[in-house]
Amino acid sequence: MPAGRPFTITTPIFYPSDVPHIGHGYTEVAADVLARWHRQAGDDTWLLTGTDEHGQKMLRTATANDMGPREWADRLVQQAWLPLLETLGIANDDFIRTTQPRHEQGVAAFVQRLYDTGFIEAGDYEGYYCVGCEEYKQTSELVTGTGRYEGQLVCAIHSIPVELLSERNYFFRMSQFTDRLLALYEERPDFVQPESARNEVVSFVKQGLADLSISRSSFDWGVQVPWDDRHVVYVWFDALLNYITAIGFDGDEATLNRRWPAVHLVGKDILRFHAVIWPAMLMAAGLEVPRQVFAHGWLLVGGEKMSKSKLTGIAPASITDVFGSDAFRYYFLRAIPFGQDGSFSWEDLAARYQAELANGFGNLGSRVIAMIGRYRDGVLPAAGEASERDLGIREVVRASAVEADLAIERMAPHEAIAAIWRIVEELNGYLTLEEPWALAKQPEQAGRLDAVLATAAEGLRALAVLLSPVMPKACGKLWTALGAEGSLGLLADQPIRAAGDWGQLPAGTRTAPLEPLFPRIEQEVLSA
Ligand code: MSP
Repeated sequence: MPAGRPFTITTPIFYPSDVPHIGHGYTEVAADVLARWHRQAGDDTWLLTGTDEHGQKMLRTATANDMGPREWADRLVQQAWLPLLETLGIANDDFIRTTQPRHEQGVAAFVQRLYDTGFIEAGDYEGYYCVGCEEYKQTSELVTGTGRYEGQLVCAIHSIPVELLSERNYFFRMSQFTDRLLALYEERPDFVQPESARNEVVSFVKQGLADLSISRSSFDWGVQVPWDDRHVVYVWFDALLNYITAIGFDGDEATLNRRWPAVHLVGKDILRFHAVIWPAMLMAAGLEVPRQVFAHGWLLVGGEKMSKSKLTGIAPASITDVFGSDAFRYYFLRAIPFGQDGSFSWEDLAARYQAELANGFGNLGSRVIAMIGRYRDGVLPAAGEASERDLGIREVVRASAVEADLAIERMAPHEAIAAIWRIVEELNGYLTLEEPWALAKQPEQAGRLDAVLATAAEGLRALAVLLSPVMPKACGKLWTALGAEGSLGLLADQPIRAAGDWGQLPAGTRTAPLEPLFPRIEQEVLSA
């Protein structure tokens, strides 16, 4: 069992009413990069993802497709959502579906606990409901529709008409938690991040919280309320609980203690559910609140949130089929400051692929490995005495590794990658200045050539370790090339916090040829 400190990270659970687009892929990749980093740092890491299968949206979509909701969910999970993980190279530890017995039992136990302790009570409610959001809306969150919905009240996020619902159902006494939540945000400034998200949540809660309707009786696709079989639990109340039902609630106390509390990554549209409702639910149940809720931005198309319902969704495979999963992972985490919105463009992706991945990193790897092959028969030479310039490279590697780790700690993977990229740039500059191809022609410079090749190889070693959370496939190939026949052990086992320590590649290590890590992409494919 890993001895490190626990680190549990979650993605939102996705509605499998439809197939995933790259906005969903973005969250998966961000969570996976952070999880892989922590795993390599020796933390007792757990990455949880899954699907949110109850509620009206699922029911309606299934019905529209002449299927039952369970069948529909099964089909989309099997054909689209599990394959997404494969497409993007996600190393998740668990995949929870809210229709699984472990989850449904946990939800029933949780609501029963809150009912027994007086935090859930019966009441009446009337309000505008958006099925897209699966949420009652305030009038301030509605706008007047245009086009097809001219003159109707529509949800500002989904641009579809809201429905006036009036229900007698059960309420969670969330209003009691206003002060405790404000105290939490005050005492733990990191609880909601980034700062803009925190400010939004604090000002929302400062207005005072209303009680939350947590059951529905107009349809039956959900977890039955244990004491009243005419009601099912509201889909968000059900869905948020996945974060604990997947790790031991209710029954496996030891696992829950080990894995909880978690860091939640969420899109900014679902921030309030996670930073307001969810901690209040946990407080009511006497459980610890999450370690952190981090809201990332949206992928935009034409200035608007990319979405299936607006027909702007791009399938993740349409990118990975051309550029590969490593490039997908690199591009979205590098190009968009984590926490802000970002516009996706094929041109930008293709340009970064060519300049940064193929010419920058990939070419560096190929050149160094090829030169060790050509000039030293594929056997890594000893570094000998270090020149000023060699020492400069060592310092860049050391400092970049430290900086990258600090950036990951503050949930800034884009800054971590930028810090690591300094090593790529410095090494490329180093080779240009040292000209090992010229040294190779001068037998009296053999010692210097050894030093240059050993320095460059050692820099590549650090790069493979530091970049493997982001680009596991390419770094795996580079690692194998650096230590043919598995002499270096498994890359995933390399301690990432020691990546900057110099001198880990032993002289005499056999290298193996390296195919281009980021092959050239034909212009016809790009313009197709
Ligand atoms: N099922 C709920 C979450 C329940 S979590 C207890 C849900 N599902 S969703 O499938 O609609 O969205 C899941 C996540 O995808 C959200 O974090 C949302 O922000 C994110 N994204 C959806 N479109 C996106 C973009 N265009 N860009 C970035 N993220 C996007 O909400």
